[in-house]
Amino acid sequence: LAVIGHPIAHSLSPVMHNAALSELAKSRPEFAKWRYFKFDIAPEQLETAVDLFGESKFYGLNLTVPHKTIVMALPAFKVAPQQQFLREMGAANTLKRKDHGWYGYNTDGFGLKNALADDLGIGLENQHVVLLGAGGAARAAAVMCLGTSASIWIGNRTETNRDALIKELKQSTQFKAHENFPITGFDPVNPPSTLPQRAIVINATSLGLKPTDESPLDLEKIPKPAAVFDMIYRPAQTRLLKQAAKMGIPNANGLSMLVYQGASSLEHWIESPLPFDVLDLMHRTVRDALK
Ligand code: ATR
Repeated sequence: LAVIGHPIAHSLSPVMHNAALSELAKSRPEFAKWRYFKFDIAPEQLETAVDLFGESKFYGLNLTVPHKTIVMALPAFKVAPQQQFLREMGAANTLKRKDHGWYGYNTDGFGLKNALADDLGIGLENQHVVLLGAGGAARAAAVMCLGTSASIWIGNRTETNRDALIKELKQSTQFKAHENFPITGFDPVNPPSTLPQRAIVINATSLGLKPTDESPLDLEKIPKPAAVFDMIYRPAQTRLLKQAAKMGIPNANGLSMLVYQGASSLEHWIESPLPFDVLDLMHRTVRDALK
């Protein structure tokens, strides 16, 4: 198994998954020889890399920035009949090798949902959601909100990417099933005064990964949100979260989301539910690794 991304050096996935695999092997010895690695793969090398992982008998891959969307265009990428929503989502974070191809899954939505419940005690149902970003991670979140949230507001630096995502979302089956579902794009530098009160702000951009990064949104410029969630977990407190804390807004970083999306990926690879003690160990391992 491996996670591939660019950059990847700081990923906690290997330490988390290797801990999970050793724990799992205690009751399931067939996993004793499984290992999880990380590889820095530039986007232009993705196709060759994925083919080589297959030839080298890798069984599962996690994908992170910037591969989640571009992987779907590769000839080796396949979608199982029960995962067809992936085509509409336009992003995969998990691959499983089978029958000479790599089958895609997306566990980010599951991760986000569980993290919001665990860390902030909230769900996205009937909530106004201010989603920052229009890449792979944002897509998974947006699809999850479609039809269940009260509205989605997508703020992204590049207008064309934002518009493309909104256009795709509006063509999805979920959207068509909930006609007139409100999806609005906005410029995060100049947010509109029409943004709703008590929204849940979710950062799905990579802005904040570097210590010198600006915040993706100035929370003082919008009506006070009910909660702020940042998918970034390293640094543990981005500028966005620091501002939320200063303003007394409940907030959480992406650490629990990392664990839940990883646990769900692992369940796809081992083709069975993870025992609770393995999940618990994954939570403890990432927390210890960040101390
Ligand atoms: P992921 O798979 O994690 O979603 P991605 O598909 O590469 O990664 O998407 C990265 C997101 O972060 C995009 O929304 C991107 O905005 P653009 O569409 O404008 O590129 C956003 N992002 C990355 N760097 C940024 C920066 N310096 N300022 C603002 N947004 C940024």
